[in-house]
Amino acid sequence: MNAKTMLLTDPISGRSVNLPVRDSTIGPAAVDVSGLYKEFGLFTYDPGFVATASCSSSITYIDGEAGILRYRGYPIEDLAAKASFLEVCYLLLYGELPTETVLTKFERSITHHGLINEALKNFFNGFHHNAHPMAMLIGVVGSLSAFYHDTLDLSTPEQRELAAHRVIAKLPTIAAAAYKHTRGEPFIYPRYDMRYVENFLHMMFATPCEQYRVSRLAEKAMNLLFILHADHEQNASTSTVRLAASSGANPYACIAAGITSLWGKAHGGANEEVLNMLEHIGSVEHIETYINKAKDKDDPFRLMGFGHRVYKHYDPRAKILREVCHRVLNELADTNNPLFELALRLEEIALQDEYFVERKLYPNVDFYSGIIYRALGIPVSMFTAMFAIARSVGWMTHWLEMMEDPEQRIGRPRQVYLGHTLRTYQPIGKRQ
Ligand code: CMC
Repeated sequence: MNAKTMLLTDPISGRSVNLPVRDSTIGPAAVDVSGLYKEFGLFTYDPGFVATASCSSSITYIDGEAGILRYRGYPIEDLAAKASFLEVCYLLLYGELPTETVLTKFERSITHHGLINEALKNFFNGFHHNAHPMAMLIGVVGSLSAFYHDTLDLSTPEQRELAAHRVIAKLPTIAAAAYKHTRGEPFIYPRYDMRYVENFLHMMFATPCEQYRVSRLAEKAMNLLFILHADHEQNASTSTVRLAASSGANPYACIAAGITSLWGKAHGGANEEVLNMLEHIGSVEHIETYINKAKDKDDPFRLMGFGHRVYKHYDPRAKILREVCHRVLNELADTNNPLFELALRLEEIALQDEYFVERKLYPNVDFYSGIIYRALGIPVSMFTAMFAIARSVGWMTHWLEMMEDPEQRIGRPRQVYLGHTLRTYQPIGKRQ
């Protein structure tokens, strides 16, 4: 037990208690309030978990004030510039960068779990052609639990590892199948001779009618996008996966819960919303109107792709993506991309506006990602599904960490009750 404590005094009874303080290796320490209720009969109140650490974790570190993001201690900038997505998946899952032999073995495992059960394909037939891909993803990923439930012994590390490999491997296949369903095109099977991102793009865009060659530019850019989205510590979807899994639930069903949370526009759904917003704004002359709408407290409109709970500085992922956006558009000879021009100008104007400066609202990861996806031919309705594929490794890494955590208990928040105290039941004829 850590020797540091924080003295807390109950102003009503005058009684004091020493609460233990848990140190972190880097970043803020946390006061352990788990004994507070027993001592004082008090709960802590923190809607939205603004100042609450829900667990200990060794996976991802963020310093929101300085704009720092690290996976297992490695700066995101280094990983984005030098690593492959599966190398980063290995790093997140196992805590170390793999050697060449180890990475080859890991890649082989992920590649060979890419195939989905033929019966799973039937689930798509239940969806209308215009169903949102995220809705299909939630349903079909959740239904993986029906295929693997009986064989999954959560107490066995090997079985847990297998579940993680399956989720990372099958998400691209399911996401691509969801897209094919919206197009009315036949599903394309995964290819064992292709790299992870290459294989995904092939499943998305190939048809049985002709040879399809995946563009190296698209593969490279998506590899980087996937790395940037791979994990982000205790965000809403990851916390959802942890909370759902804390009851001992099937991990595939928990991942479906994570995808559900991700879909919201305050979270991963923002990448789709940014594109829609830019299209609505339409041209530079309308920016001011939308900035004013974003500042108006009576208007529900928010500048999508702006602001973050943790970053009070430029999101380091957005900084990388801004550059990548330039590069991709240059390589595609799309240098006069009006949406990119609009986004750059919107950022410039917002960052000079007192409202955004005061509140430390900067572009986040979703601000530029959509422009890149779109330039690479990914349809807008698939943007959040891209995020889900990439984040699947983060979800499974947190699930694995939680399953091995000796302090893990069912997640069960408390509340401040504001309802009636006690009422007497009235027979229906006597009610007014
Ligand atoms: N446009 C206008 N005002 C904003 C925005 C925005 N995008 N974001 C925050 N604010 C204001 C908010 O109204 C509040 O003002 P005040 O102090 O006057 O009441 C202040 O800034 C603090 O905002 P908050 O809502 O208390 O902050 P939060 O930490 O609860 O929410 C957020 C964070 C990301 C949900 C929010 O910034 C937002 O809605 N952004 C737009 C959606 C978005 O881009 N989401 C992607 C997040 S990053 C990727 C991911 O997580 O998937």
